[in-house]
Amino acid sequence: MELSHVTLTPEFGSELAAGIKLLDLADEDLDPFKLLCAERGVVVARDQVMTPEEQARFAGRLGELFKNPGSKDGTPEELIKIKANEKSKFAAGTGWHSDVSSEQEPPGLSILRMEVVPESGGDTLFANMTHIFESLSPSMQSFLKTLKARHDPRGHYLYLRGVKTKEELGTSLHPVVRVHPLTGKPALYVNSGFTDRIVDLSDRESVALLRFLYDTIAYAVDAQIRISWRPHTVVVWDNRVVQHHASFDYFPATRMGYRATVRGEPVIAAS
Ligand code: SIN
Repeated sequence: MELSHVTLTPEFGSELAAGIKLLDLADEDLDPFKLLCAERGVVVARDQVMTPEEQARFAGRLGELFKNPGSKDGTPEELIKIKANEKSKFAAGTGWHSDVSSEQEPPGLSILRMEVVPESGGDTLFANMTHIFESLSPSMQSFLKTLKARHDPRGHYLYLRGVKTKEELGTSLHPVVRVHPLTGKPALYVNSGFTDRIVDLSDRESVALLRFLYDTIAYAVDAQIRISWRPHTVVVWDNRVVQHHASFDYFPATRMGYRATVRGEPVIAAS
């Protein structure tokens, strides 16, 4: 099947042509689909009617899925339910992050499908970590390539994984700049959701450098896109390329969907 798509910006983000159904992809379409996700960072597919079980089966064709045995409401363990409503004080996924980067083999693709969306608001923002890395000076790029950061599991993730303390999940050291195994492109790989500190620097230096990098991500409007959801929209993003931020601007309306998360590989350092 030809994966026709329109670009959301010249550099990253694509929307699949109407009529392409993810559930209809043949086995030989999957590698081209993964390459499209790697090259474009974010792939939007509209009007994808499927059940949670069908979503989990489709996502499982893209690789090994993270399991979340902590869900107690019948959500398949291959999915995370994303839900906020009139009772919510916060929504999962707010703040720029890359999904569970505390894992030794952190996520490659995430596949989020919305069932209920607010009348307005509830967009997800994405930022292109290759663009942001390449926008830094050559001296800063070279310095960042020498560094490693520690990533820690955080609150909500403990509950989903069905454990009580973060020690049960462990932390990971990853290079601050990674290379995508399919495209060979470098990308910045620290995020405010999970990165604890840069281990090669003193505390003060690490805090200052991470603050600078997080500000660069937050202010880089030329390297960001914003996806507006409709019911049955699926967005697939490559966590090796982008970070995302769920906007919680729709209280007290309800927003509800499911995310599957595909295990990646040990992070490849940029040289
Ligand atoms: C997430 O971080 O996976 C949630 C994103 C969203 O709800 O838009």
